[in-house]
Amino acid sequence: MMLPPTDRISVLFSEEQIAGRVQTLADTIAKKLPNDLMLIALLRGSFVFTADLIRALHRSGSRPQVDFMALSSYGTGTKSSGNVVINRDITESVEGRDVLIVDDILETGGTLYYARSLIKDRGARSLNTVVLLDKKVPRKADINADFVGFEIPDKFVVGYGLDYANYYRELPYIGVVEKN
Ligand code: IMP
Ligand code: MG
Repeated sequence: MMLPPTDRISVLFSEEQIAGRVQTLADTIAKKLPNDLMLIALLRGSFVFTADLIRALHRSGSRPQVDFMALSSYGTGTKSSGNVVINRDITESVEGRDVLIVDDILETGGTLYYARSLIKDRGARSLNTVVLLDKKVPRKADINADFVGFEIPDKFVVGYGLDYANYYRELPYIGVVEKN
């Protein structure tokens, strides 16, 4: 049996910092996208961010609908290959809808680029993207998020939904794994 990891995690963004930023982000989104929004959250990493974002959007006067999609880009360890596959598709129609794709973190851009193309092909009326974290690394795909929570350096981060080997998603803060 695999034991839970015991690495030291140094805090990058505290619970309070995240909560404050998510509300400001929601205020901006609600102002710029005032129509009936359909959120499509990319699993699994964005589930915590999405749960907070929809409640922040509510406080900003927005009444979004929500669906989920699970994508994986096959690769080894912490490197993604750029080949994206759908593990779970949305069940709602996006035709004619104003869609906001939600992801946890933008790195090479492969995942978000794929999701964006897919939803566009399915006839969304408008398409925007929000990521909690934007990692400052060279992109492989030609994409930037329309709304960004925080920009971060090229470090592997965990917590608030983000994982290492499916651990650490439950951390209420975002941190960097300091290997023992
Ligand atoms: P991209 O396709 O290279 O942009 O990678 C995006 C996906 O890789 C995210 O949705 C995450 O699931 C994962 N990822 C990238 N960087 C990190 C990280 O620092 N921690 C945890 N997951 C990450
Ligand atoms: Mg992800």
